[in-house]
Amino acid sequence: MNLEQLEKAFQDKIDQEIKIEPKDWMPEAYRKTNIRQISQHAHSEIVGMLPEGNWISRAPSLKRKAILLAKVQDEAGHGLYLYSACETLGISREETINDLHSGKAKYSSIFNYPTLTWADMGAIGWLVDGAAIMNQVMLTRTSYGPYARAMVRICKEESFHQRQGFEILLTLSKGTAEQKAMCQDAINRWWWPSLMMFGPKDTESTNSDQSMKWKIKRKSNDELRQNFVDMIAQQIKFLDMTLPDPNLKWNEEKGHYDFGEINWEEFWNVVKGNGPCNKQRLEARKKAWDEGAWVREAAKAHADKKANLEKTKAA
Ligand code: 3HC
Repeated sequence: MNLEQLEKAFQDKIDQEIKIEPKDWMPEAYRKTNIRQISQHAHSEIVGMLPEGNWISRAPSLKRKAILLAKVQDEAGHGLYLYSACETLGISREETINDLHSGKAKYSSIFNYPTLTWADMGAIGWLVDGAAIMNQVMLTRTSYGPYARAMVRICKEESFHQRQGFEILLTLSKGTAEQKAMCQDAINRWWWPSLMMFGPKDTESTNSDQSMKWKIKRKSNDELRQNFVDMIAQQIKFLDMTLPDPNLKWNEEKGHYDFGEINWEEFWNVVKGNGPCNKQRLEARKKAWDEGAWVREAAKAHADKKANLEKTKAA
């Protein structure tokens, strides 16, 4: 087959909802887009451990500490599935991690905001993980097989994360005046950055058109953001709190909530590395990588020893 025929056969497969697997022929740009998106996603999971990790030692009870620990560990697991999915596209884990450390690869803007109070653990679970699931449910049907399969388990765990976040806020919302204020303050600070997680407006989204044709993405940034606003605008009623947007209003005609304009200058500023915690987050990741060198070496030595032993036994 010539290139044109290969490309046609590839697109036909996608149109027929047949998953693309690692050994299948794929256009170079499809491979690169998946590496970009999956590695960015993996980095987000790993960097995303930092803001919450900050509260493990300060959780208000042993029960809360155990739950938070489990959640942060889940995020590490998500990162590992995603790095593995990325490796099936022919890029090594080391290369993807180097790209994060050098600043070449992006990770979600949301993790560059600080976690100032315990209520932030609730707001992150409810809003940040809630936004993540809204986007990731569609990714369980993404066209690249290993990515789609990794997303199934990730989504199950993420919905537990979202519920635990909501439960933290629900408890605070029924507490003392101080606890209620803490709850509202966390919602105020995390609301707009959560909306930014969905990426730029469709008209500004450089990758969307092609990613939709390849069914890497199945819903647009704006469509997912709107679904998220509609969901949260309803759920907040149970907390008896408010969202910090005077323009948030049900639009009967559209069957959706209208909402205010996102501060896109702030979004791009954070994406470009100038958010409140970008520097701190990357430094923490690099430090963990350097300090973990001996663990990687020991694991490799152990694996080599085991393989040699098996070889000797087989001989
Ligand atoms: N933060 C940082 N960069 C962002 C961004 C964000 N919130 N949203 C978009 N961008 C970047 C894009 O990466 C792209 O830059 P690039 O071409 O250099 O990579 C540029 O802005 C233009 O955006 P596009 O809309 O064209 O980009 P995409 O088509 O890739 O769409 C996306 C962006 C919707 C985030 C998509 O990449 C995606 O669905 N990614 C997978 C999911 C993911 O990474 N989620 C991150 C959160 S994970 C998480 O929250 C963990 C949970 O456990 C808490």
